[in-house]
Amino acid sequence: MKIGYIRSAWVLGANSDVAVSICKELAKRGCRKFFLISRNNIKIKKFAYYLRETYKAEVDEKILDLTDFDTLDNPSFYEVNDFDLYLITAGYLGNNDLAMNNVHEAKKILDSNFVGIVPWINAIISPERIKRKGCLWVFTSVASDRGRPSNYYYGSAKAGLQNFCEGLIARCHGKQFSVRIIKAGYMATKMTIGKVPDFLCIKTSDVAKILLRKPFRNGVEYLPWYWNPIMFLIKIFPNSLISKL
Ligand SMILES: NC(=O)c1ccc[n+]([C@@H]2O[C@H](COP(=O)([O-])OP(=O)(O)OC[C@H]3O[C@@H](n4cnc5c(N)ncnc54)[C@H](OP(=O)(O)O)[C@@H]3O)[C@@H](O)[C@H]2O)c1
Repeated sequence: MKIGYIRSAWVLGANSDVAVSICKELAKRGCRKFFLISRNNIKIKKFAYYLRETYKAEVDEKILDLTDFDTLDNPSFYEVNDFDLYLITAGYLGNNDLAMNNVHEAKKILDSNFVGIVPWINAIISPERIKRKGCLWVFTSVASDRGRPSNYYYGSAKAGLQNFCEGLIARCHGKQFSVRIIKAGYMATKMTIGKVPDFLCIKTSDVAKILLRKPFRNGVEYLPWYWNPIMFLIKIFPNSLISKL
């Protein structure tokens, strides 16, 4: 399947470093319509301007905080209708220690990574839309594979998202629409700065190129691939070892 097919992209978490790299790579390869959703008004306007000026792309923006349920309504049809690619990169690592004692931090992690995302996926995966060709890419995390003391709030929220999307993969079976769950390992982004040594992190420009090799891939994949054997081992580690991670 040629990348040329992706002429339009809808992005939730569009100010994420990996989303920016994917959008730039898409634009280079001919994608000319973007719908960018972010919390950050200034940054997203700047990025939209860049895509318009550099690639003559048609770009719409929406400002949204996934934890803001007071203003939540069912996402309207026009906001998600008829894009070739739906990309979900919003995510919040949060502070696990704080979350143990602070219900607001705990809720923020769960809402930003799972609960707040569900209404959008619901709107995208309509019975009509999945009859037609298109794809949904959702970033979960290797942290969803096994709960660890250092990040189990984040990991469990991602596991919820993961399970939800696995259901969608099964629901879309035999349909034109593909659902791709990307279990990312360490990427060099603002999420990992100061937390993970640089040499362990893959560049987001490389992530974009890897993903665009097979844009309509369906199913669950580790990114980079070597997280597959690493997580295989972590899943079988005894609790005495996991308790130290
Ligand atoms: N980097 C890694 O090593 C790694 C590993 C595994 C999985 N992931 C996942 O990969 C995805 C992309 O992350 P990244 O590495 O590119 O990190 P990033 O640059 O920090 O991007 C995360 C994005 O999520 C947005 N976000 C967070 N909370 C939100 C909320 N309540 N409402 C709306 N947007 C919110 C942030 O918006 P603002 O820009 O406004 O803050 C940010 O743009 C995330 O889902 C992350 O969990 C990353």
